[in-house]
Amino acid sequence: MTFWAQKHRPGWWKNAVLYQIYPKSFQDANGDGIGDLPGITARLDYLQTLGVDALWLSPIFASPQVDNGYDISDYRAVDPMFGTLDDLRALIRAADARGIGIVLDLVLNHTSDQHRWFQEAKKSKDNPCHDYYIWRDGTPDAPPNGMKATFGGPAWTWVPELGQYYFHQFAPQQPDLNWENPAVRRALYDMINFWIAEGVAGFRLDVIDQIAKEPDNGITANGPRLMEFLRELNRETFGGKDLVTVGEAWGADLARARQYSAPDGSVFSMVFQFEQMVLDQDGSKWKARPWALPELKASIAKWQQGLHGAGWNSLFWNNHDLPRIVSRWGDDGAHRADSAKALAVVLHGLQGTPYIYQGEELGMTNAPFGPQDWRDLESLNAYRELCQTGTPPPQALAAVQRMARDNARTPMQWTAGPNAGFTTGTPWMRVNPNYTAINAEAALADPGSVFYTYQKLIALRKANPVFAAGDFTLLCPGDTQVFAYLRRGGGQTMLVAANLSGRPAAFALPADFAAVPPALATQGAPTPGTLRPWEAALWLLPGEA
Ligand code: GLC
Ligand code: CA
Repeated sequence: MTFWAQKHRPGWWKNAVLYQIYPKSFQDANGDGIGDLPGITARLDYLQTLGVDALWLSPIFASPQVDNGYDISDYRAVDPMFGTLDDLRALIRAADARGIGIVLDLVLNHTSDQHRWFQEAKKSKDNPCHDYYIWRDGTPDAPPNGMKATFGGPAWTWVPELGQYYFHQFAPQQPDLNWENPAVRRALYDMINFWIAEGVAGFRLDVIDQIAKEPDNGITANGPRLMEFLRELNRETFGGKDLVTVGEAWGADLARARQYSAPDGSVFSMVFQFEQMVLDQDGSKWKARPWALPELKASIAKWQQGLHGAGWNSLFWNNHDLPRIVSRWGDDGAHRADSAKALAVVLHGLQGTPYIYQGEELGMTNAPFGPQDWRDLESLNAYRELCQTGTPPPQALAAVQRMARDNARTPMQWTAGPNAGFTTGTPWMRVNPNYTAINAEAALADPGSVFYTYQKLIALRKANPVFAAGDFTLLCPGDTQVFAYLRRGGGQTMLVAANLSGRPAAFALPADFAAVPPALATQGAPTPGTLRPWEAALWLLPGEA
């Protein structure tokens, strides 16, 4: 059955698993070394085998690629590097035939400085597009305030011809749009409706909690008009159309996430919040913070319980901005596969919509790269700034390596052949040298691979109502090795238990569950009383015990 025939009903995304593709690094079909849309179409069988419902594509729109497509110069055009609008239509059709939807990435907070709007805006203060962006008068040496840009340097850039600064939260080549201007909002809504008419399954909305900013007061996230803008966006575009929408909201707390993912459908299906994903950093992502498992469990429990019946969680360990989870919180050495599986089981047993980032299902790891191999402006700028401010280069290297976004952006590892089967040309970014051992071909041939744990988790979710419906009770909250929880609902009870450490851990299986074999076990039959290093299992019982 096609995607829309299966999914076109309210709340379909509550039972769905999404897969994120970083198009530049997924599959190159024409040998230019850069992944493209025909490459994605060629890999649909693989994605169908995995069992995912929809593919979120990081931006494929026209872009100078200063921030790998998160700097858009034409929202309605496919970047020629990725193919044509017809290639996208072909992908939507081919995916649809396999029951898979396509989710586009909307960057509505800013455009590229090469966007026609910004080119016009720079021409004069009376240009109709000038007010599409955020300008302040000033003098060359006195920016309006000291706000910093996320990718380094000041958030204000001076345009001498106008005698004004423009505001950019990210790179200078990513000027922020002025959402206060109704013409900007209208233009964005029309563009979104254009893509809805093309048959997409939904949208991921980049840094969407920053659109209602008040830069004069230093406010970027959660500005006063944010909810008003978001509700208008919903009404004017995707609202009431059974599309999946997920807003990226680094600034979301529980109360805000309840509004963003309100069950009345007035804003988004769900948001990406990052509370769990910053536990190991101390203010700056380049500064490590010691932490222990109970903190992670407490945070997850808080969100599971806080959104139960009141909103909806998105579940993820990885994306294109985060290092690989198996290297970060697993063990990418001797226990690589086991730790990847354990982390998968813990996440996929939760309530919410799981996201798998390309290669996560293979247990792909961080890349041991340095400045010469990095491509990301954030890593390159951070390394330079750390060195300039006195961090010795080896320490700066280690700090950036640990969190570099490029860890996740290396080409997908398909085979043990040249360039991991990603391209017949020269890859735009170096392939992780471990591709000879870690690749899709090897994973598909090994019934015990990480891939099949993900496949099984997806299948279990589809077959068992407790995954989407159940509540959440954390077990042994203070245990520093074991992550275990109970879920009850939809006429079932589920127990998930995982040892997230490299040492055996004591774990007493509750009596009801000891009597039945697990529905999934990552290391064969569990031993009573103990979990082996990085062992995980999941039990299901009829009834809400
Ligand atoms: C989001 C994207 C990230 C991008 C930034 C600016 O955080 O995920 O990749 O650099 O927004 O658009
Ligand atoms: Ca290509």
